Amino acid sequence: MKATLNIVGGGRLGTTLGALAHASGRYRVGAVLCRERAHAEAAVALIGDGVPLCELAALPPAALTLIAVPDAAIAPVAAQLAAAGVLPAGAVAFHASGAGEASLLAPLAAQGVHCASLHPAFSFADPARARERFAGTLCAFEGDAAAQAPLYAFARAVGGEPFALAPGGKAAYHAALSVASNYLVSLLDLATRVAAEGGVDAGAAARLVGSLMQQTLDNARALGPVAALTGPIARGDDGTVARHLAVLAGEDAVAYRTLGRLTLALASAPDAAQRDRLTALLADQAGTANT
Ligand SMILES: NC(=O)c1ccc[n+]([C@@H]2O[C@H](COP(=O)([O-])OP(=O)(O)OC[C@H]3O[C@@H](n4cnc5c(N)ncnc54)[C@H](OP(=O)(O)O)[C@@H]3O)[C@@H](O)[C@H]2O)c1
Repeated sequence: MKATLNIVGGGRLGTTLGALAHASGRYRVGAVLCRERAHAEAAVALIGDGVPLCELAALPPAALTLIAVPDAAIAPVAAQLAAAGVLPAGAVAFHASGAGEASLLAPLAAQGVHCASLHPAFSFADPARARERFAGTLCAFEGDAAAQAPLYAFARAVGGEPFALAPGGKAAYHAALSVASNYLVSLLDLATRVAAEGGVDAGAAARLVGSLMQQTLDNARALGPVAALTGPIARGDDGTVARHLAVLAGEDAVAYRTLGRLTLALASAPDAAQRDRLTALLADQAGTANT
């Protein structure tokens, strides 16, 4: 028998997961709820199943309720759902925020609803495109242990690969994603600007840096970070590091030193004397004007 899935928030993520759940043949979409009726109708049309709704109190009974509203609206919507008293004890409610925890749904948990978060590490820019490419997406589960089995089954039915975070692990998980995704872009920009300062024209600098980063990422994923590490710090070449620092200023030098210290911790080749010289070069330079 198909389990019923309600979706509160028929936007990019809600519509995509709803369509994939329907297509799996294992779920029936009960209702799709938005504040604007036209949005709920459009979501139902894209999903191919479900009833469009605007009133929380009208939600039909469902085993799973996905709260797919913007992050800031998750806690208020959970409070409204609890006030409406529509989710029975023993049902599962979950949101898909990367940063927020299951505790955003606390008013529902207080009513005996099994609450969790299930975050797909995926960008749902366009629903049709997202549906085609979602297979194999890692989905981070966190929350009430009683919600784990039904949400793992849901994640697998839509083509995802579920895994569990440690209790309280959501902030570290999201920090890791931010470093991996956002800081990669900042590093690309930093390296491109520094190359341009050395006289490489802007187009060539972007290609030079981008292709080297791509190659290095491939190596690090294939070999692991320690084996993939090359360059002056890995070799213990403090003279080259000093020359780099001579042409870097401000936040660029701060970033170079900070990441350099993390790099030195990974490097196994430098001997004790090289390590000491590198440590001194890469130390924080608090109070100096040019670094
Ligand atoms: N987009 C992504 O790539 C992505 C990736 C991973 C996780 N997520 C997570 O998925 C969740 C949804 O993100 P999204 O990008 O799909 O959002 P979205 O495209 O902006 O859609 C939000 C939906 O929620 C409805 N909504 C907003 N406030 C509401 C309220 N108070 N009550 C009922 N419905 C409401 C909106 O319709 P009305 O305006 O008509 O109410 C809309 O249908 C967020 O928690 C986000 O962090 C998103």
